[in-house]
Amino acid sequence: MAKLFISDVVKDFITPISTPRRPLKILMVGTEITPYAQVGGIGRVLYFLPQALNRLGHDVRIIIPKYGKIDENKYPLEMVAEGIQVPTDAEDGKEKYLICNVKTHKLPDGPRVYFLENMEYYEKRANEYGYADDPVRFALFCRGTLEFIRKYEQWKPNIIHCNDWQTALIPQYIKTTYKNDPTLQSCHTVYTIHNLYYQGTFDHRFISELDYDDGRSEIPSFFSDRIHKINSMRRGILYADIVNTVSETYAREILTSNYGEGMDGLLREVRTKLFGIINGIDYEEFNPATDKILYKNYSASSLETRDENKAELQREFNLPINVKVPVFGISSRLDEQKGIDLVMETVDYFLNEFDAQLIINGGGDGRYLSYFQDLEKKHPKKVATNLNYNYTIPRHIFSGADIFLMPSKFEPCGIAQMEAMRYGSVPLVRATGGLADSVIDFDPETNNGTGFVFQKYEGMAFFAALVRAMETYRYKKIWQGIVRRCMKQDFSWGESAKRYSDLYYRVVELKRQRRSGRTHPNLSEETL
Ligand code: GLC
Repeated sequence: MAKLFISDVVKDFITPISTPRRPLKILMVGTEITPYAQVGGIGRVLYFLPQALNRLGHDVRIIIPKYGKIDENKYPLEMVAEGIQVPTDAEDGKEKYLICNVKTHKLPDGPRVYFLENMEYYEKRANEYGYADDPVRFALFCRGTLEFIRKYEQWKPNIIHCNDWQTALIPQYIKTTYKNDPTLQSCHTVYTIHNLYYQGTFDHRFISELDYDDGRSEIPSFFSDRIHKINSMRRGILYADIVNTVSETYAREILTSNYGEGMDGLLREVRTKLFGIINGIDYEEFNPATDKILYKNYSASSLETRDENKAELQREFNLPINVKVPVFGISSRLDEQKGIDLVMETVDYFLNEFDAQLIINGGGDGRYLSYFQDLEKKHPKKVATNLNYNYTIPRHIFSGADIFLMPSKFEPCGIAQMEAMRYGSVPLVRATGGLADSVIDFDPETNNGTGFVFQKYEGMAFFAALVRAMETYRYKKIWQGIVRRCMKQDFSWGESAKRYSDLYYRVVELKRQRRSGRTHPNLSEETL
C-alpha cells in the first residue's frame, strides 16, 4: 500500500500548480562539492544540480565549510562576511560565540559557492569528515549558515535546501531558536536524504534507551555531551517543510522496516511531505565522444573503438589482452551497502567456471580490500585491482569494462550505474533504490532492456545474474544492442531539476496557503 501512496504523491506534485512562477533564490547547504572538496556522489550532485536549476532561471548558490584541504591558491576566495558571531548556547564559563567568516568563489562553469570559515573546526582539519567532534563541527555549520543569511544583505534565499544529517539542524533552528526572526521566517526548507544509514556520528542501530533522541528536544549547546548523541537525521525529517530522497524507489523502501534504519515509523507519519527524485549525471562532463580521460573517444555508432579502450584497460591492469573475454568491473566505495559481500560469496566459483576477467577499483573497508588482494593472487590472469580512490580509473572502467557490477544491499540513487551506461558498460545491479529506477532488466524474448537485474539480496541470485550476463555476451549483435540502448538512455539533470523546481514551488505555495488558512489535501498542517 505504501508503494501506491508515495507514487500518488509524486504524481500529484508534478502536476502544474496555480501560483505564477517567479525565479527563486535557493541556498543549497552541503558538506562537499566537486572540485573543491569531494568524497562521494553527493559532491557531484551539489555541483551539477544547481547548474541545471540555474538553467531553469533560478539563482542557486551553495555553502560548505571551508576545510583545510581547500586550496586558496588554486581557488582565490573573496571575503564577503567577516567576524560573524555564532551563538553556541553555552552554559556558564564556556565561549558564548564562535567566530566565522564567509568567503566565496565561482568557477566559470560552476555555481557560486560560499565557504564558512572557522580556524578551529574547519581550517585546522584537512578533511570533510571523520573527527571526534563532527557533531559540533556540523552544528556550527548549520547555525553559522543561518547567521550568515541574517547578516548578508546582498542576497537572501527563498529556499534553504539541506542535504544529509550534517545540515539537518537548520530546519529545527529556524522553527525554534529563530522563530521570531523575519529573514529566516521567510525561508522555506527542503531536506534531501542522500543516505538514511548515516544519521549522526553514532551507530543508530545500537543506541541505548537512555541515549535515544526523539528529535523534539531543544538543540543542545555545542559544548554539552548531548550534542554528540542527538539524531540530526530525525530532526531534519521532523522539522523540514519538505523531505525528499534521491529516487522514487528509495522513497518507498524507507517506509519499510527493512530499509527504514529505525526511521520508517516517523517517515510513514510524515509521508505526505516525502518525495523521491532521482539524481542525474552531466552529459557534457560524461561524454565518451569528447572525454579527454579516455584512451580513444567513441560513440554508440563506433563501438569498435570502444574495444580499443577495453584492450587498453586490460593493459593498464596487466591482464591478458583479449577483447573477446568479457571484462567485469567494480568501481565504488567498498563497503557493505555496495553488496560486496555477495561478490565475496560467489565470485571465486564464478571465476573457476567461466572465462572472464574482473577489475576492482575503490577504497573502503579493510576486510574487503584484503579479500580482493587475495583474490588477485589466486587468479592473477583473471583478477586485477587498484584499491585506492582515483579520478581517472573509474572512467577507464566505464569505457572498457563490458559489465559494471553494483549488487547493492541498498542504494538511495547510485550514480556510477548511470555513468557506466553512458559509456556503454552494461550494469548488473540489484533491484533496489535508484538502481531499480535506472536499469531495465534484459529480456531475451523481446530483446529489450539495459542491464541485468536481480531481486533478492542473496549470493545465488547474484550468481544467476552473472551467468545470464555471461551467456548473453556470447551473442555479439544482441550484446551490442544492449550497449547501444545503455548509451542512448537520458539521465541528464534537466528532468530532475524540473522536479526539484516543482518541489520548491510546491513548498512556497503550501506555506502561502497555510498562511491564508487553506491547506493542500496532500500536505496537512501538522507535517509543515
Ligand atoms: C549517497 C548514496 C548514493 C547517492 C548519493 C548522491 O552517496 O549512497 O546512492 O547516489 O548519495 O545522492
